[in-house]
Amino acid sequence: MVDQFIITIDGTSSTGKSTIAKRIAKKIGYIYIDSGAMYRALTYYCIQKNIISKTFINKNILKNHLPSIKIDFIKNPISNNLEVNLNGEFIEGKIRTLEVSDHVSELAKLDDVRKHMVRIQHSLGNKKGVVMDGRDIGTVVFPNAEYKFFLQASSKLRAKRRYDELVLKNKEISFNEVFENIISRDKLDTNRSNSPLRKASDAILIDTENLNLDQVESKIMDYINFSNSNS
Ligand code: DC
Repeated sequence: MVDQFIITIDGTSSTGKSTIAKRIAKKIGYIYIDSGAMYRALTYYCIQKNIISKTFINKNILKNHLPSIKIDFIKNPISNNLEVNLNGEFIEGKIRTLEVSDHVSELAKLDDVRKHMVRIQHSLGNKKGVVMDGRDIGTVVFPNAEYKFFLQASSKLRAKRRYDELVLKNKEISFNEVFENIISRDKLDTNRSNSPLRKASDAILIDTENLNLDQVESKIMDYINFSNSNS
């Protein structure tokens, strides 16, 4: 591939976006940016600093802290992967907990938070050659991206996939807790007023319900190769 593009992959949680985005990026030599990891990193920060609790978000303190919160994607010398980095610390291993998942959508709906994240996402995508996944990447962050995809699957199947992942990581959790979290995040992500989760009108819809990862990957690659060879 000669030209460098921006490829966006949006959709609800646990549709396989991150895994697919990572695979596509690897295949075509692009950088993969997990925008959900950025919101998770911020949530982790807010939990650590007691800016957020079960019942409360201290929005004023958060606003004061935001300019000094540095979120970046840097190669981790241990894993050799590009990983989310919060103020100099690699925190990938700490942001996939249910505690972070339970708070992240509440923070992600705040205007100041979104503004801060979109600024970072623009700087990361500026040079193109990027695959970015999330909720609003094709609609708000890069509305002019060359390739846009939107993944969907039923909430039951998504919860099952997420539950299986967590069990593999020896997390003690019930299927119902995972299911409830997915339902509540879908609701918050879809109904928020700022950058709600929507399929961009020009995004390609892929229903992953009956597809395995190889099939989703090849659908996306076929589309990119086809359009590329016709341009
Ligand atoms: O992709 P994920 O499940 O790790 O994302 C975690 C949360 O972050 C998700 O519930 C909503 C929020 N998010 C967002 O609002 N916008 C994005 N572009 C990516 C994630």
